[in-house]
Amino acid sequence: MKVSLLGTGRMGQGLIKVLSPHIKGIIWGSRTPVKVNHLINELKCEGVQSATYEEALEADIIIHSLWFRDLLPFAEENKKKLANKILVDIVNPFTEDFSDFTTEWGTSAAEELQKVIPDTKVVGAFKNTFFKIFDNPLHNGLESDVYVTSDHEESRQTVITLLEPLPFRVFDGGVLKNNRTIERMTLFEREMAIRYGHYPYVSFRLFGNEKTNE
Ligand SMILES: NC(=O)c1ccc[n+]([C@@H]2O[C@H](COP(=O)([O-])OP(=O)(O)OC[C@H]3O[C@@H](n4cnc5c(N)ncnc54)[C@H](OP(=O)(O)O)[C@@H]3O)[C@@H](O)[C@H]2O)c1
Repeated sequence: MKVSLLGTGRMGQGLIKVLSPHIKGIIWGSRTPVKVNHLINELKCEGVQSATYEEALEADIIIHSLWFRDLLPFAEENKKKLANKILVDIVNPFTEDFSDFTTEWGTSAAEELQKVIPDTKVVGAFKNTFFKIFDNPLHNGLESDVYVTSDHEESRQTVITLLEPLPFRVFDGGVLKNNRTIERMTLFEREMAIRYGHYPYVSFRLFGNEKTNE
């Protein structure tokens, strides 16, 4: 299966660091592909192929790193290209000042995305993983958690299998509706990390579960 990543911002650069050693030939798309070429050298991610968004959308599994305000128009515009594919969604729908969410309590960004592209299998992941974690994924020798969600059971399992070699504990997070909680957990962890002085190095680890990635 071909895998691509869209976007070269903080999460895009973080994700490529952990994805590229395990997913050979991963395609990294940007509105400015020349930027990808520079970043591939700078970050020393061998085997990564630079691409336009159009080329990256040819992959079977597409991981995006767009903001929520840009995501729904992007999904609407590329509905046909995204049909029958897996789109991994990392969005948290924060307000501009990061004080709240732009979505109502009874929904989530992942569910809103799925509504716009019903023929695509939306899979949530990495919503609680702040970009600094990718530089140093283990804290005191322990991995943090990634909760993988989807209403498409098979696609959820496909993404879990894809992410399992990465330095994270990858969990089946259930259906997309769980993102109403998961996305809001990010708002809370951000506030806590700022209060306790370790923002933006923050992620979650569920206590009591013995799962390791070894
Ligand atoms: N920052 C975090 O720690 C964190 C943690 C968890 C989840 N997230 C989620 O991850 C997403 C990205 O966050 P980020 O911090 O990586 O943001 P960022 O640094 O601003 O990067 C966003 C990227 O989106 C791409 N993009 C595509 N279409 C765009 C458009 N119309 N306008 C602007 N940019 C566009 C750009 O990549 P190209 O220029 O290469 O096209 C841009 O670099 C957000 O949805 C956020 O909620 C972030």
